[in-house]
Amino acid sequence: MARLLTLGVLVSGSGSNLQALIDACQEGILKNKATIAVVISDKPNALALERAKKAGIPTLCLERQSYASTPLFMTALTQALLDHAIDLVCCAGFLKILSDDVLCHYQHRILNIHPALLPKYGGKGMYGHHVHEAVLAAGETESGCTVHFVNEGIDTGEIFLQAKVPIRAGDTPDLLAARVLKKEHELYPQAVLRYYESNHVHSEDRG
Ligand code: GRF
Repeated sequence: MARLLTLGVLVSGSGSNLQALIDACQEGILKNKATIAVVISDKPNALALERAKKAGIPTLCLERQSYASTPLFMTALTQALLDHAIDLVCCAGFLKILSDDVLCHYQHRILNIHPALLPKYGGKGMYGHHVHEAVLAAGETESGCTVHFVNEGIDTGEIFLQAKVPIRAGDTPDLLAARVLKKEHELYPQAVLRYYESNHVHSEDRG
């Protein structure tokens, strides 16, 4: 059997996508395939940290203000991922932009989930409810979510997997956000499974 794919999950907030990954690793489609070795938050009060602790997953809180500069903060983040021998980094509502340091160490090994059908509705300012407001204001008939590789831009990395949701008459940003988030919880574990099948198993085969 191939070695478990070791995930490091980066969070800043409620961590519902983290929860979906935890559940998938414990009893779902990632069981016996992936494990979360560490959850790292840049916010000490993130609910995501509680979810991780409840699941018995090691947590770390790295706050930007504890470091003299952003590069030093990013170096600490990279080191924490290396210390936990992470194969794949999953950003799940992590609000900091990753520096070249992290990107170089984890080239094509960092995923992020975004609550829209990229390349539309991504970039600076396109987070949280702003995304769903923009989608509704544009009169779109569908929205969805995207798992993409992280590069040096904001939401510009290669698209890995997407799922769509319909837009219904009378939708509000809240209603649409809830529908998209539910879809995200299916999509992120599916994306990690696809990554596992297309990269990890084969790299194990090569010995
Ligand atoms: C999700 O909507 C995700 O697409 C975006 O941030 C939100 C995180 O939510 N990047 P949660 O913390 O996983 O509940």
